[in-house]
Amino acid sequence: MKLINVATTVALLASSAHGQKALEWNEPTSGVTYGLAVPEAASAPFDVLLSIVAPAKAGWVGWAAGGCMLRSPILVAWPNGNTTVVSSRWANAYHPPAPYNGTSTKVFASSSTRNETHWKVSVLCSGCSQWVGGEVNSHGNATFGWGVSSHAVDTPASASSAIRFHDVGKGHFELDMNKARLSKDDFGALVKSLGG
Ligand code: HEM
Ligand SMILES: *[C@@H]1O[C@H](CO)[C@@H](O)[C@H](O)[C@H]1NC(C)=O
Ligand SMILES: *[C@@H]1O[C@H](CO)[C@@H](O)[C@H](O)[C@H]1NC(C)=O
Ligand SMILES: *[C@@H]1O[C@H](CO)[C@@H](O)[C@H](O)[C@H]1NC(C)=O
Ligand SMILES: *[C@@H]1O[C@H](CO)[C@@H](O)[C@H](O)[C@H]1NC(C)=O
Repeated sequence: MKLINVATTVALLASSAHGQKALEWNEPTSGVTYGLAVPEAASAPFDVLLSIVAPAKAGWVGWAAGGCMLRSPILVAWPNGNTTVVSSRWANAYHPPAPYNGTSTKVFASSSTRNETHWKVSVLCSGCSQWVGGEVNSHGNATFGWGVSSHAVDTPASASSAIRFHDVGKGHFELDMNKARLSKDDFGALVKSLGG
């Protein structure tokens, strides 16, 4: 098996024919790369395009819209066969987050694949930028949460599967939304390039 370094991994994320790109951030402990793009908007709500590239050993990878694990929409992704499942969750306490119906997500099947070394997913989320009690900044910096587990989920085919603790790590990361924000046309082109 070929070793893949961080620089190589970062180059793997979404980039359309005309170069529209998600803003990428590599989490060094887990080796997971998060990519984020949003369309131009004065303020939330706006759609959020999230991409994840995870090393094969990651059982699930999570993203929290509000930074903290608690009280904001969470997306949890995991491999299922050769595809990827994305589950919307919400946590009011430091317990396994429950399924959440305040978002609607669209997984781009052609961009959500698995091979020997990695699995990845691109998902468009409506409802991830605004919730009861908070929102994602459209301009300036925004803080997100990350969490990664080495444990495969119990029932990978089901979006409501039980998941286990983020033993690999968890924390917060800040992205400059001025760099994640694309014109509506560029955002549309990026979505299209991913199969949307
Ligand atoms: C079985 C599922 C989960 C359990 C039992 C769990 C439990 C916990 C606990 C006990 C803490 C605080 C104690 C500590 O520092 O270790 C914590 C913190 C955290 N968790 Fe989870 N968690 C789960 C899933 C998730 C998911 C899916 C995410 C998605 C990103 C996440 C993100 C975070 C973050 C960012 C923190 C840092 C503190 C904070 O911002 O609230 N967790 N979790
Ligand atoms: C997954 O992909 C591999 C390689 O393309 C293929 O051989 C295998 O049959 C696929 N598995 C499933 C469950 O689709
Ligand atoms: C969504 O979840 C809320 C809170 O649990 C619940 O009150 C509501 O009925 C749910 N809506 C749907 C369409 O399931
Ligand atoms: C496996 O997937 C990763 C992530 O998409 C990609 O960078 C890598 O080139 C793929 N490996 C092979 C052998 O296709
Ligand atoms: C915004 O986030 C970036 C990291 O993406 C960081 O380098 C920068 O210091 C932050 N700016 C402010 C004003 O917090």
